[in-house]
Amino acid sequence: MAPEPVPTVQQLLAFYLEAGVDCALADEPVDRLAEPDSATIAAPRETAPQKLVREMPVAAPSVSRSEIAAAPEAAIASARETARTAPSLEALRALLENFDGCALKRTATQLVFCDGNPQARIMFVGEAPGRDEDIEGRPFVGRSGKLLDRMIAAIGLDRSKAYIANVIPWRPPGNRTPTPQETQICLPFIQRQIELVNPDVLVTLGNPSTQTLLSTREGIMKTRGKWFDYDTGTRTIRAIATFHPAYLLRSPSYKRMSWQDLRAIAKELEKAISPSSSG
Ligand code: URA
Repeated sequence: MAPEPVPTVQQLLAFYLEAGVDCALADEPVDRLAEPDSATIAAPRETAPQKLVREMPVAAPSVSRSEIAAAPEAAIASARETARTAPSLEALRALLENFDGCALKRTATQLVFCDGNPQARIMFVGEAPGRDEDIEGRPFVGRSGKLLDRMIAAIGLDRSKAYIANVIPWRPPGNRTPTPQETQICLPFIQRQIELVNPDVLVTLGNPSTQTLLSTREGIMKTRGKWFDYDTGTRTIRAIATFHPAYLLRSPSYKRMSWQDLRAIAKELEKAISPSSSG
């Protein structure tokens, strides 16, 4: 049998991009097949492209697969205990910087904690940082961030009068969907963040953030524009779901509905700021 042709670098890069790998995380390759927990798995025969891909330097978290998957329950309990103790947003950020219970931290460039004003009366929460946010260390700075800015402007505000965060504070590699375990591990931190910011209005952007924070299984088409009571543990605040800006970029026809949600948000905010002047 003729040996398989060796792929060119260009072909390999195209292969990576198609697989969702768009950044290199270390200079040295990691031989995953040499990890102890894979020793018992019978490895299929490698093709030439597979071998080259394995040997090229891409993601090299200094942790084995078994460690990454280990005991999510323990990590969730540790996250709850850790987040609970944060007396301020600065302390919460520092605790997150030191928290090792979520494997996403090892592949992300940095923590993406928040942007905007911690004194704001309105807080927006998205799902997880993307590539631009991972590089800059601030949420919603890419294309969808630009649209979020326009959404915030539509209610007469800007980032100096709004607070922005994500349920997950580290970029999932290749922008993959966070696993339910990763979400549950990060949840106590965003819950504490909401409690500490203590806004009058909480806006969840898109399905994952809405379902996670507002404890609903309904999809965004049903939840958007509806008001929820969000219990911070110390206070109940008004919460509303609306479309994620990234979704609006893909489906601009929903911008009209999003506009309706934003008008409802502006009205509620006005009510919260000056309860006597609004009906
Ligand atoms: N999408 C999100 O949900 N959050 C970001 O910060 C950027 C894009």
